Parts: sequence; C-alpha cells; structure tokens
Amino acid sequence: MQDILDEIVATIGASDSRGQPANYIPQLACIDPNQFAITVAMADGRVYSAGHSNQLFSIQSISKVFTLTIALGKLGDSVWSKVGREPSGDPFNSIVQLEHEHGKPRNPFINAGAIAIADAILMGHQPKETLAEILQFVRFIADDDSVSIDDKVAQSELATGDRNASLAHFMASFGRLDNPVDCVLGTYFHHCSIAMTTEQLAKAGLFLVDDGRNPVTGARVVSPQRARRINSLMLMCGHYDGSGEFAFRVGLPGKSGVGGGILAIAPGKASIGVWSPGLDDVGNSKLGTEALEKLVEHTGWSIF
Ligand code: DON
Repeated sequence: MQDILDEIVATIGASDSRGQPANYIPQLACIDPNQFAITVAMADGRVYSAGHSNQLFSIQSISKVFTLTIALGKLGDSVWSKVGREPSGDPFNSIVQLEHEHGKPRNPFINAGAIAIADAILMGHQPKETLAEILQFVRFIADDDSVSIDDKVAQSELATGDRNASLAHFMASFGRLDNPVDCVLGTYFHHCSIAMTTEQLAKAGLFLVDDGRNPVTGARVVSPQRARRINSLMLMCGHYDGSGEFAFRVGLPGKSGVGGGILAIAPGKASIGVWSPGLDDVGNSKLGTEALEKLVEHTGWSIF
C-alpha cells in the first residue's frame, strides 16, 4: 500500500493541472494549491500516508456526513421529513429546487440540506453547545481529541455567506426552520470550518467501513443499516452534480468539500482521506478524485 501511495504522490500529486482553490471563501482562496496528501486507514488498523498528511485543512462539506450521522442519532427516521434522499443534479449552493419542492432540500449534503440538518440538531440550544457536541462526536470517531474548528475560516464564511443566508431565509419562509436563521447559519458555518489532516479524516471514516462500528477501537457508532444508508447517500449525493462522474470514475461512497478534501469509504476494506485544494468545475478536488481513481485501479476496491 505504501508503494501505491508514494507513486500517487509522485505522479498525480505533482501534476501541473491542479484546478483552482475555492475563491468565494477568502480564507480558502489563499491556500497554497501545491499541497497534496492521502491517507488510507485500513480496517485492520494499519494506516498508510503520503504527502502533506499532517497538514490541517478545512473539511467543509465533508462535515455534513458527521452532522447527518448526529441528526439520525437524535431524530431517527424523522430526519427524512426535513431533507430528502435523492441526488439534486444541481450545484451544491443551488436554490432552484427549493421553490418547487416546498422548501424541502433534496438531500442532506447540498448546502440547503446541511443547513436544514444544522437546524434539526440545534433543538433550541445555543450554537456553541451544538458545536461542542459536533466536535465531541468528530473527536470520538477520529479517536483524536485535538480536532478543532478554524475560527478564521468560519468568520470568512460568515462575512461572505450571502448565498447560504438566502437558502436559510428561503427555507424559513416555508416554515422549515425551528431555530433563528442566524443561529442555524452560525452552526453551519462553524461545522464546515472544522480543520483536520487526511490521517484524522481517514480514521474518522472507519465506522462506515465496518457496518457502523470502528473496527480498530471497537466503538459502535451507528447500526449496520444506518451505516449502509449513509454510504448510499454519499455515493448518490456526496459530490453534488459531480456524483455520477465520481461513481463512474472511482466507484466508492465519497464526500467532498470545497477545502479540497474527499473522504471515501471502501466497505469492509478501508477509509481514505485525500486532500488537494484545487477544485474541478463543480467544486470537487481535482487531484483528489484522480488519486482515488488511481488507488481503486490498483486495489480493485470499487464497489461495482
Ligand atoms: O457553504 C459552503 O458553501 C461551504 N461551507 C461548503 C460547501 C462545500 O464544501 C461544497 N463542496 N464541494
């Protein structure tokens, strides 16, 4: 495995065609695009890394996997009255479907859906309390108490978050939010601003590798059925309007973030964290996708 990752870093990690870092969040726009990291956390506890795998990056929308998991734990299947579970086929920040679909987001991974999930887990509490709970959960699944939020990124998102504010207010106009819009947005922006390394991220995904139980620590996180369902949503919706392309090229459940990270799950085998800040046209890590494509080619881990 180490040979494969070293080769990926030497070839794909050195590519000249890296895509552009997200430019609509100023704090992400200034990240050096020449960074690249990959970590494979195997179900048997072995961990392999190559590249800048100790560098913290903004996990952004990857955090939506964790907030969905928390919401399912708190609300059970009534989560599905708040968000759907169909791919949107539209950009991650699109508002168009909301108008025709009674303000109910298509799935929990588009921005509107994740804002609805942030509202669902707030349950009348202060954003600070809910964020502490989210962090505690991520630290638990990553088995690492050092995971934290990059407040500069959160402030940067807050200052430039007009589109997300529009989505939240639009949903509120349909009576879809139970908490004040500013509390919901504050929670959403801050959980998107969690910073992790690829190693922490890969370890955090391990519970989705082994039917909801971390195979290394033995901790049960969710039921087997719930783990399968989260993986299915990642496969169908985890890369927005690039989800079909990702399934076609990589063939694994995956969740991307505009920080350039991707969490991919090879059920029964491994959890993979990859990071390269340059994005493709739909906002998914360009080299991150190429690296996963190469990894799957070498390992045969595609679920298809
Ligand atoms: O709300 C936003 O736009 C960002 N905090 C998250 C978007 C994102 O990561 C989409 N990913 N590819």
